[in-house]
Amino acid sequence: MTNLKLIACGMGLPKKVVTNEDMAKTVDTSDEWIYTRTGIRARRFCDEGESNFTMALEAAKNAIAAAGITPDEIGCVVCATFTPDYLTPSLACLLQLHLGLSEDIPALDVNSACTGFIYATTVARGFLDQSDREYALVLGVEQLSRVVDMTDRATCVLFGDGGAAAIYKKSESAAFDSFLGAKGSTEITCGGISREIVPSPLWMNGKEVFRFAVGAMYRCITDLMERNQLTWEDVDHVVCHQANARIIDRCIHKLKAPEEKFYKNMDHLGNTSAASIPLAIAELEEAGRIKAGDKLLLIGFGGGLTWGGALITYGGK
Ligand code: ACO
Repeated sequence: MTNLKLIACGMGLPKKVVTNEDMAKTVDTSDEWIYTRTGIRARRFCDEGESNFTMALEAAKNAIAAAGITPDEIGCVVCATFTPDYLTPSLACLLQLHLGLSEDIPALDVNSACTGFIYATTVARGFLDQSDREYALVLGVEQLSRVVDMTDRATCVLFGDGGAAAIYKKSESAAFDSFLGAKGSTEITCGGISREIVPSPLWMNGKEVFRFAVGAMYRCITDLMERNQLTWEDVDHVVCHQANARIIDRCIHKLKAPEEKFYKNMDHLGNTSAASIPLAIAELEEAGRIKAGDKLLLIGFGGGLTWGGALITYGGK
C-alpha cells in the first residue's frame, strides 16, 4: 500500500476568543481552577455567520494554497467531525461542492471524536492507494460550542471550536504507519437524533476518561515506536490530542520522554476534539518549527472510546 507524507496544513478558526475569566461570568468557575486542572486559558467559539462548514472551508482553502496544488489534483476528501452542520450532505460533500473538487473522488465524514484525524488519515491512505491522483485532503473540524451545555461548568470550560486541514501526498519512501483501536463505551456521550435515548449535551465521566486517556496515549506511543524501531532521537515532534495538559504531562513522566518534543496548544484553543491534532501541526508549521523530513507521532484518544497513533513524515511544501 502507498505511504503518505504530509506536505501542508491550513487553519480555520472562529474569531471570538473566550477567556477563562469570560467563562467565570456565566458559570461558577475561575481561571485558577480551569488552568491548574487542564492547562486551558482560552478557547474560540463560533459567532454568527461561523459554523463547522465555514471553518472547514477556510482551513481547506488555506491548506490547498500552502501546498501549491489545484483542487483537481485531490484524490479524496475525508473529514473527521462529530459536529457537522448536516447529517447529510456530509461536510466532505459540502467541500467537494464549494472547492470544485472532482466528482470522481470519494468524499466521506468520519466520526471517531477526538481520534478522528488519525482515523481520517488512515481512511485517506486507503482511498489514495486506489486513486490515480496524488493528493488527499484530510480535515479535523468541530463546533463543540453547539453541543456543550453552557450551564454545566464541568464540561463547558474544556472545549473550543476550530478546524484544520492537511494535504497528504503519496510517497514510496516516506516513513508512515498507523494503527487504530476502539472499545465501545458510554463514558463520553453526545446525543444526536435519538435524544430520547441519550441526553443531548456532551457529557463525560471526567475521572474515568482521564485514566483511559493516559493509558491509551502511553500504549499508542510505545507501540508506534516499537513497531517502527524508533528511539527518541528519531522522533522530532509528538502531537497528541490536546484534551488536557495534565494527561500529556502524566504520559511524558511515565515514558521518561523528552518534554520539549511534545507540542501543547490547549492554553489558547482548549479541547477542539478532532481538530486539535491538525491545528497543532498547523501551528508548528506557522511557527517554522517543523522542517522537511521531520518525523511526527500523532496520538489521538477520545469518545467511542477510540484511540489511534500515526507515524508521519513531513514533506515540506
Ligand atoms: N470550576 C470549578 N469547579 C469545578 C468545575 C469548574 N469548571 N468543574 C467541576 N468543578 C468541581 C466539581 O463540582 C467538584 O466539586 P466537589 O468536589 O465539590 O464535588 C470538583 O470541582 C472536582 O471535580 P472533578 O471532576 O473531580 O475534577 P478533576 O480534578 O477530575 O478534573 C477534568 C476534571 C478536568 C474534567 C478531568 O477529569 C479531565 O481532564 N478528564 C479528562 C477529560 C478528557 O480528556 N476528555 C477528552 C475526551 S473528550 C472527547 O472525546 C469529546
